[in-house]
Amino acid sequence: MRSHVSQTTVDIPPALASDPRFPAVARTLKRYQYRADALIEVLHVAQEAFGYLSDDMMEFVACQLKIPYSRVYGVATFYHFFTLEPKGEHNCVVCTGTACYVKRSAEIVSRLEHDFEVKAGKTTTDGKLTLSTVRCLGTCGQAPVVVLDGETVGRSTPDAASAAVRVMIESGKAPVAMEDRSRRRRGRGSAP
Ligand code: FES
Repeated sequence: MRSHVSQTTVDIPPALASDPRFPAVARTLKRYQYRADALIEVLHVAQEAFGYLSDDMMEFVACQLKIPYSRVYGVATFYHFFTLEPKGEHNCVVCTGTACYVKRSAEIVSRLEHDFEVKAGKTTTDGKLTLSTVRCLGTCGQAPVVVLDGETVGRSTPDAASAAVRVMIESGKAPVAMEDRSRRRRGRGSAP
């Protein structure tokens, strides 16, 4: 746990200062005139730029906005859209909302955890895959739903999900969603 941050310290950690993504955060702080009520906006920009919120970043933001580190940490951990860990090269999100759950999405999660040696909410040690879960993606008719690097795949199974994640990691591309494939086939068939 970090100690309370001196509100007069404004040193930029060297790793941040030399990072080409850092100026976006500095500009946002300046645009909002270092106001404490800009905290969420600043964290948004920091996460967008860096992909996650590091301790160094949160401490820096706390200093700049003259608020305690504990407040920044509290906000960053309260909202789901903030993450404190770097994301993997590829993302697999399994829906565990009610419709997907009754269609056994928990088995998909267990299978992926086993096959890729990663817990839901975490990233593999080689940084290749982040596995996460979400409560309802709004496509319940396709349950159980898995999202691979932004591609939605409906009516998945543990076998299919595991194979698709492997393809995604090995090829560097998300498999084309099943719905998209059938739509493309239909499109080809009806072309003049
Ligand atoms: S519960 Fe999974 S998409 Fe709605």
